[in-house]
Amino acid sequence: MSQPTIESILQENRTFAPSAEFSEKATVKSFDEYKALYDRAAADPVVFWEELAKKELHWFSPWTEGLDWSNPPFAKWFVNGKINLSYNCLDRHLDSNGDKPAIIWEGEPGDSITITYRELHQQVCQFANVLKKMGVVKGDRVGIYMPMIPESAVAMLACARIGAVHGVVFGGFSADALRDRLVDAEAKVVITADGGWRKDVVVPLKPAVDAAIAKGQTKVETVIVTKRTAQDVTMESGRDHWWHELMATVDSDCPAAELDSEDNLFVLYTSGSTGKPKGVVHTTGGYNLYSHITCKWIFDLQEKDVFWCTADVGWITGHSYVLYGPLSNGATTVMYEGAPRPSNPGAFWDVIQKHKVSIFYTAPTAIRAFIKMGDEHPNARDLTSLRLLGTVGEPINPEAWMWYHKVIGAERCPIVDTWWQTETGGIMITPLPGAIATKPGSATLPFPGILADVVDMDGNSVPAGEGGYLAIRHPWPGMMRTVYGDDNRFRKTYWEHIAPVDGKYIYFAGDGARRDEDGYFWVMGRVDDVINVAGHRLGTMEIESALVSHPAVAEAAVVGKPDDLKGEEIVAFVTLEGTHTASDELMKELKKHVVKEIGAIARPGEIRFADALPKTRSGKIMRRLLRALAAGQEISGDTSTLEDISVLEKLRG
Ligand code: PRX
Repeated sequence: MSQPTIESILQENRTFAPSAEFSEKATVKSFDEYKALYDRAAADPVVFWEELAKKELHWFSPWTEGLDWSNPPFAKWFVNGKINLSYNCLDRHLDSNGDKPAIIWEGEPGDSITITYRELHQQVCQFANVLKKMGVVKGDRVGIYMPMIPESAVAMLACARIGAVHGVVFGGFSADALRDRLVDAEAKVVITADGGWRKDVVVPLKPAVDAAIAKGQTKVETVIVTKRTAQDVTMESGRDHWWHELMATVDSDCPAAELDSEDNLFVLYTSGSTGKPKGVVHTTGGYNLYSHITCKWIFDLQEKDVFWCTADVGWITGHSYVLYGPLSNGATTVMYEGAPRPSNPGAFWDVIQKHKVSIFYTAPTAIRAFIKMGDEHPNARDLTSLRLLGTVGEPINPEAWMWYHKVIGAERCPIVDTWWQTETGGIMITPLPGAIATKPGSATLPFPGILADVVDMDGNSVPAGEGGYLAIRHPWPGMMRTVYGDDNRFRKTYWEHIAPVDGKYIYFAGDGARRDEDGYFWVMGRVDDVINVAGHRLGTMEIESALVSHPAVAEAAVVGKPDDLKGEEIVAFVTLEGTHTASDELMKELKKHVVKEIGAIARPGEIRFADALPKTRSGKIMRRLLRALAAGQEISGDTSTLEDISVLEKLRG
């Protein structure tokens, strides 16, 4: 990990309180109410979570212990309790709300479908029977590589219903990246589609699955393919099956399995500062409670709300707030296949107008793209159905926040800026919209039960206004349980950076932050070698490995450079093998190579060829210097550890 210099420079003093009208109707109505809730939870977090688990969820049988933290950092929540997430998302709503829309789906070309809770329940039961028929049993890993279509929700819920562990891989990842994840998770089945729509073109998904399996080492025996785009695909006899044909062979009677609270629910890969992506493991009971209650309170869900979270199901936000959180609450969730795109700059506002969306949750990078496309697009639509807005994925710059507030929210809708991670399972630091006044650029205060702090390396809280490491001092139900197949990496990455204080383990999030005099958190970005491009988290190491796997490349170092639209852009410094010379062609080829190895999200914006990279005498690349060079800044700070100072001069020139 690089040694960060954490300085906080952002000074933002504007405050926006929710209107009296909003607060009156909200679940948590005032700051005093939030404070009382927070203090009670902080005094005894386990009792707090146990009360909520009892009140909010259906359990087949109760737990014997709220939290087992006897073997830290391996937590067990609601020990021995029996539960099923698919039951909580579907079955329990059927009597009261069977005919309510569960999913409103909008395809990129403009096709749309509404699925009621009863219909979704039926499809999930049927598909769960398909999985059983294909030999999937509890604990098996199932890869899901699909576009944003209702079948991906059905597939995930069906896995949860029978206790299979889903591993969703974002449809924008390449065949190679898919293969790595399927191999690591030892997936036996993959569910995919012929293709999906993305920015007006068909993304071929099934061919990528074929290529991933052809590369070898996966344990995939069965591929189930749903038809979305109807282009020709090759079906391998005995291995590949059409979704609709299998569905026709089973009935829809499939009671939800009574799973253990700590049974694995899913594994989701995310990038870290070292090595290959980590399989973040979440389990059933704790994740169900955490995604449920955060969704309910932070988005202030009410009976008639239409909730739209724009994330792809390939990311944690799609898991927790497109699918599980809203459905566990019996809410109506919107699923949209499209992305912001210049060919249809009004598409998002059309969806809001058409489906009367009341809560809209998106990423700062999307907001910046909307700003660029022009106010005339939202201004030409009726957005009066909106009552609450949210953001996630990276710190939001105050200008984008103000635009969102004025142009989309008409200065009427509170904005919840939500800080969290794949690892945390759900939102951790956020305003409760009826209770907490917001400041543009701050995620404000911790959710009740979350003991968040800003600390130094020894675990001491740092004073207000000073930068430090964002940390969590007590386990919470939505926390990841381990890195799939690598307990040691879990311990090292998250629990050993900050020294345990009085034997108490502290969770290290990998972000720098400060608190202001009101206790508000200001997240300043990653302190490790992770970059955040358009809300996607990428390890510099992964991109460097991809570059070095090209025969022309000797060494590569990747850093992030500030970018108006994407937050950060990837800049790669590359040295070449002896016989190769720098050229525009080679640059293009290397960019293409990274896309092939990882996916378009990792395409470097810039590649700079160099004779050598700046290194310390012990051979460590000095990224701090490269970051400054990439951003066109003056090199400041200590360069005395640099092995060869002339390298720097050449890079600058
Ligand atoms: O750096 C923080 C940033 O995104 C990281 C987590 O990325 P990922 O696991 O991909 O999950 C993204 C969606 C939950 C964090 O370590 N981040 C996320 N939300 C915010 C944020 N940074 C500042 N403010 C946020 N609201």
